[in-house]
This record gives sequence, structure tokens and C-alpha cells, in this order.
Amino acid sequence: MSDPARPRLDPPDLPPETPAFWAHFWTRGVTPWDIGRAHPVLDDEADALAAGLASRDAFVPGAGRGHDALRLADAGWHVTAVDFSPEAASCVAQALEALGGVYRVADVFDVDVSGGFDLWWEHTFLSALPPTHHRAWADTAARAVRPGGCLAALLFPTDKPAADGGPPYRVDLPLIDDLLAGTFRRERDRSVPPGTGHRSFGQHYAVWRRD
Ligand SMILES: C[S@@+](CC[C@H](N)C(=O)[O-])C[C@H]1O[C@@H](n2cnc3c(N)ncnc32)[C@H](O)[C@@H]1O
Repeated sequence: MSDPARPRLDPPDLPPETPAFWAHFWTRGVTPWDIGRAHPVLDDEADALAAGLASRDAFVPGAGRGHDALRLADAGWHVTAVDFSPEAASCVAQALEALGGVYRVADVFDVDVSGGFDLWWEHTFLSALPPTHHRAWADTAARAVRPGGCLAALLFPTDKPAADGGPPYRVDLPLIDDLLAGTFRRERDRSVPPGTGHRSFGQHYAVWRRD
């Protein structure tokens, strides 16, 4: 999923939408998607995303080790991070609480998110989900984000052939534009230089505004 030189593990023969699939990696300490720090786009965006918002409630689905959640909390966001892998939560829950956030061990699709957030921070959660779950992802985001709030996404991998499957599954602008049509409008986007975060596939950054 990232640097080919990092340790890899063959995926288990389990459905990728199940906790058991992800536990296979977490319990072995093999997390090749993890770039070891908050994504560099957050160096600017952690503050920029708050522009014009009356509150700073952020939702981070599939938060993993929580580097991004911590970066957002450090910038003053009230962060709710969710991951169904307890091993992921144990890495970061205390540090996030110390910054006023909360890390919940739960399935994102079971969390009552209704109207609770100004920001949905998307980073390799959608690409972890099989396409059968795309509609649920979009519906959950639409329920979670308040009107005027935004969904910011670090898209990865943007250029992996769809036929290669996943995870990570290919995600790109047209896919997310389609999924969010009628609830969010794309406000801005930019390319992310190749290799950022030691990743071999393409990345892109975009922000959609909730109508
Ligand atoms: C590819 S990892 C990305 C982790 C983190 N966002 C990052 O960039 O380092 C995907 C994470 O999503 C979690 N996950 C997948 N499906 C989930 C679901 N339905 N509910 C909660 N967590 C989920 C997995 O446990 C895993 O930690």
C-alpha cells in the first residue's frame, strides 16, 4: 500500500470489510499503509479547513494509528476518531484524549454521526472499503457533516488499475464526485507530488462543501 521496501503481508482470505481482515495486519504489527506521521497536506490544511466554520468538530473514520487525528486535534479541532481495530486505538487513544478528542473502537457504519461534525477527514478509509460499501460511505458522510461543513479527502491510490482490486481500492475525483452528488459540491483540489508519504501510487487532495 505504500513503500515497497516496507514489510508486507499477504492479505488473509477474509472479506476486507470485516474487523477480522484488519486484525490480521494489526495483530502482526504490519501496517504498510501507515506513513508514520500526519499526512503532509495537513501541514497547511489543519488550519485552512477551519476557515469560515463556527465550530471545529472533526470526524476521522478508519483512523488507524491516529497521526492525522492528533494533528487535527493539535490545531484545535475536537476530534472523534473511529476504527474497529482495538490495536489501532491502543496506539493513540490516550494522546488524543489529552488533546480533548476521543477514539472510539467501533464500526464507522454503526456510529450515530447525525449532524455532529464540521469536517469529515478522509484518508485511506474509502480505499479500504470494497465498492459494495461506497454508497454507505457517502450516505454516512452526508449524515455526519453539518450544512456548510466539509469533507476533505487525501485520495490514494488514484491510479491503481481498478481491475487490480484491493485493498487499497482505487479512489479518484470522478468516483467521489459521483458518490457525493446532491449533498456536497467540490470546492477545490490539487495534486500531491509523487512519492509524498513514500507512496508508490498516485495521490490527490480535494475538499467538498456540504450543501
Ligand atoms: C488502510 S487503514 C488506514 C488507517 C489510517 N487512516 C492511515 O491512513 O494510516 C484502514 C483502517 O480502517 C479500519 N477500518 C476499515 N473498515 C472499517 C469500518 N467499517 N469501521 C471502522 N474501521 C474500519 C481498519 O481497521 C484500518 O485501521
